[in-house]
Amino acid sequence: MESPFRGDIAKGKVALITGGGSGIGLEISTQLGKHGASIAIMGRRKQVIHSAVSALRSLGISAVGFQGDVRKQEDAKRVVDSTFEQFGRIDILVNAAAGNFLVLSEDLSPNGFRTVMDIDAVGTFTMCHEALKYLKKGGLGRSQCGGGIILNISATLHYTAAWYQIHVSAAKAAIDALTRNLALEWGTDYDMKVNVIAPGPIGNTPGIDKLAPKEMETNTNDYLAVTKVGESWDVAMAALYLVSDAGRHINGANMVVDGGQWMNRLPH
Ligand code: HXC
Repeated sequence: MESPFRGDIAKGKVALITGGGSGIGLEISTQLGKHGASIAIMGRRKQVIHSAVSALRSLGISAVGFQGDVRKQEDAKRVVDSTFEQFGRIDILVNAAAGNFLVLSEDLSPNGFRTVMDIDAVGTFTMCHEALKYLKKGGLGRSQCGGGIILNISATLHYTAAWYQIHVSAAKAAIDALTRNLALEWGTDYDMKVNVIAPGPIGNTPGIDKLAPKEMETNTNDYLAVTKVGESWDVAMAALYLVSDAGRHINGANMVVDGGQWMNRLPH
C-alpha cells in the first residue's frame, strides 16, 4: 500500500533495527528507508540479513547488515559501534528482535522462560544501553527533538492473559515497563523519546506463522481469537509517525496497532 507520508520525513536519519531481516522489523526497515533514512539491520541469521540488505538496496535504500545476537552484550556493542562507524550517527533504534514458541506453562522449562526473557526484555535493554552514547547526541539537532528515538516492539498478549505465552507475556510486559522508565530518565536527561508499539496479530510474519499456523485461514477463532489480522505495513506506518516530527511530543507512549483486537479477546 502507498505510504500517506511525505517521502523525506526520515531523510538524513540513521536507523538501527534489530530483527530487521524479517517480518515486522524488515517492513519497518523498508519504510524508514523509503522515507529517506539510512538503515542498519541486525539479526542472528547471516543469510536472512544478507537477503534483506539486498532487498533494501534494490529499492535504492542505503543499507548495511550486521550479524549479531541481542543476548550478547559484545554483539550489541559491536553492531552499535559499527553502525556509527558506517553512517557517522545513530538517530533511531528499533528493537524488533524477539523469540517465541507456543508452550503450556507446565511444560516450559525455566531455561525456556529465561531464553525468551533474554531475547525480548534483556536484549531490548542491552541494545538501548549500548546505543545510548550515540542516541543522546545523535538526534536531529533541533530544539524540539534534541536526542535520538527508541521504538520498542511489544505485544498486547499481557494486557489480559494468553494461553501458551507466559514467557512472551512476561517479556513484553517488561519491555513496556522499561520503555516508560527510559522515556522518563532519558527524555528528561537527553531529550530523547522512547516509545513502544504493540502490534496485534500481523499476517506474513514469523510470529503469526508460529502462533496461528496454516489453520488460521479457516479456523481463526480457535487460535488466539484472531478476528482482525493487520499487515506489517500498519506497524511500519505507526513507526514512521513516531520517528517523524509529527511525533515530537510523544514520549513513553504505547501505540497499540491491532484494530482494537485486544479488547475483544474471546475465551479460549
Ligand atoms: C518448549 C522450548 C521450545 C519449544 C525452545 N525451548 N523451543 N521449550 N517448546 N518449542 C526451550 C528449550 O528447550 C531450552 O530450554 C530453551 O528454550 C532454549 O532453547 P534453544 O533452542 O537452545 O534456544 P535458541 O536456539 O536460542 O532459540 C530460542 C528461540 C528462538 C526462542 C526458540 O530460536 C526463536 O524463537 N526463534 C524464532 C523467532 C520468532 O518466532 N520470532 C517471532 C516472535 S513473535 P531447556 O530447559 O531445554 O534447556 C512475537 C510476537 C508475540 O514476539 C505476539 C504475537 C501476537
